Amino acid sequence: MSNEWLREAGFETLAIREGLTPGFEQEHSDPIYATSSFVFESAEQAAATFSGERDGNTYSRFSNPTVFVFEKRLAALEGGQEGVATSSGMAAILTLCLTLLRAGDHVICSRNVFGSTVGLFNNILTKLDISVTFVALRELDDWRQAVTPNTKLFFCETPSNPLCEVGNIREIANIAHDLGALLAVDNCFCIPALQRPLSLGADVVMHSATKYLDGQGRVLGGALVGSEELMAEARGFVRVCGPSMSPFNAWIFSKGLETLQLRMDVHSQRAQALAEWLETHPDVKKVSIIAV
Ligand SMILES: Cc1ncc(COP(=O)(O)O)c(C=O)c1O
Repeated sequence: MSNEWLREAGFETLAIREGLTPGFEQEHSDPIYATSSFVFESAEQAAATFSGERDGNTYSRFSNPTVFVFEKRLAALEGGQEGVATSSGMAAILTLCLTLLRAGDHVICSRNVFGSTVGLFNNILTKLDISVTFVALRELDDWRQAVTPNTKLFFCETPSNPLCEVGNIREIANIAHDLGALLAVDNCFCIPALQRPLSLGADVVMHSATKYLDGQGRVLGGALVGSEELMAEARGFVRVCGPSMSPFNAWIFSKGLETLQLRMDVHSQRAQALAEWLETHPDVKKVSIIAV
């Protein structure tokens, strides 16, 4: 069955249909390919598949059809060319950094990012001679002033966890691009039902799928979405270094994507109702969000 008609589809249809190609059983929900590796009709066919001369799966650290469905579906929802799934959100950030950076490079990162992200930049990447400067997310001059001749990557989390600080992705992307650097955005809190960083100029979107993409607290996972070229490099890193997503987790996340818009609509309505109720509460002085 051709999925060409999906090119015209809206978010909620893509969230259910993208990546699914019913097999022999005409299943309506994605099957789980719980397999470490794949079999071949002959040694010649195996050799051709492993060498890349022939399309096909060889080993689930390299590729897996269930993981592929999640990657394709998330990429469509983020408006990116391709996605690469990882075993956790932190594995996605590590993959991003080790794909794009080398010894001597410099990163500028917004200060209010998830704690383990700070740990990765400060304690792990520094061992590889990759340095980082933390700046205030909303102070654009701080981003400009932190630039060095070796700055390769701008990284921000917006809204940030846990303070929900919101930055201007378009402005930060402009500063990065004027320099020839890339901007990566951790979109864990807003997810593509509410914010699509690529459409605002970011080069890569990063997810802790563990949060809203699953939405029910069952499994860990992460993902990157971006251009074909960048994702090919990221996929190369995952293949060799091994922070791959398990097929079971990918299946859970693909199912999570199916209800993403509905869940985020309800989260947003309830957050609004709670904020309005708090505003009227005699013990509450002020209700505000930190916005641009
Ligand atoms: C904003 C943000 N980024 C990254 C991560 C790391 O994701 P994971 O726990 O899936 O490794 C988290 C986890 O809470 C997070 O909140």
